[in-house]
Amino acid sequence: MTDDSPIGIPSHPGVYDTIGSEYSRHRVPDARIAAQILHALGDARTVCNVGAGPGAYEPDDREVVAVEPSATMCRQRSTPAIRAVAEALPFPDDSFDVATAFLSLHHWQDPNAGLSELRRVSKKQVLLVFDMAQQTDMWLIRDYLPEVGVLDRRAPSLERVADALPGARCEVVPVPWDCTDGFLCSYWRRPRKYLDPTVRACISGIAQLKQEVVERAIGRLRRDLDSGAWHKRYADLVGRDNMDYGYRLVLAE
Ligand SMILES: C[S@@+](CC[C@H](N)C(=O)[O-])C[C@H]1O[C@@H](n2cnc3c(N)ncnc32)[C@H](O)[C@@H]1O
Repeated sequence: MTDDSPIGIPSHPGVYDTIGSEYSRHRVPDARIAAQILHALGDARTVCNVGAGPGAYEPDDREVVAVEPSATMCRQRSTPAIRAVAEALPFPDDSFDVATAFLSLHHWQDPNAGLSELRRVSKKQVLLVFDMAQQTDMWLIRDYLPEVGVLDRRAPSLERVADALPGARCEVVPVPWDCTDGFLCSYWRRPRKYLDPTVRACISGIAQLKQEVVERAIGRLRRDLDSGAWHKRYADLVGRDNMDYGYRLVLAE
């Protein structure tokens, strides 16, 4: 990383020990996304949830084993988690009906090794991922904070995920305008939310950037909101109920 890199906190398996203390505050699982995930799990009885964080989207009617490397994230859970990384899962082959990973893959140091581990320990895999190529079209990233793209180039492309999980298929996960899970693109129709530092702290793509870079962009956003320029430029968003910003459910078995 060079001095002119916009990244302040580089990714590593324990990065949420630095950026995750308030994670649960604005990352409330969204009921519509939860229903889509539950449907994808089908009749699986045993679930291994990797990069589990506080436990979003873990079904409460199955046997779930959670895997999470960050102690800070484990403390926000109501059930215990095994401290491990996706790249080295401490389970024998075929231990679970399904292995899941929700918005975690872009943090893994070696996505291919992690995906191969998911396949080794489970019959079926269900992942919530995002395709950065589509996400860069979201106004915050395209017009205010393109530096997010530098960080999130760590997210493997959908093609790379499909190569690692043969036979995988993808479902679009639309982002509702009032999404309760405050990930990067959740506030596409509620721009003032990005002005709140506690909201930004729950979005790794922003929290890991140098804060002077973020504050410059957010200052510009604030001025555009106050002057009415934002609403004029993005007037077409106001009547929309949900958007496709590249979030995908990847299903393989
Ligand atoms: C954006 S959070 C998602 C948490 C949770 N799945 C959710 O949907 O709210 C990403 C999670 O991946 C975890 N993580 C980071 N590197 C990992 C790795 N190599 N293997 C497994 N999990 C990892 C982080 O500690 C963090 O809890």
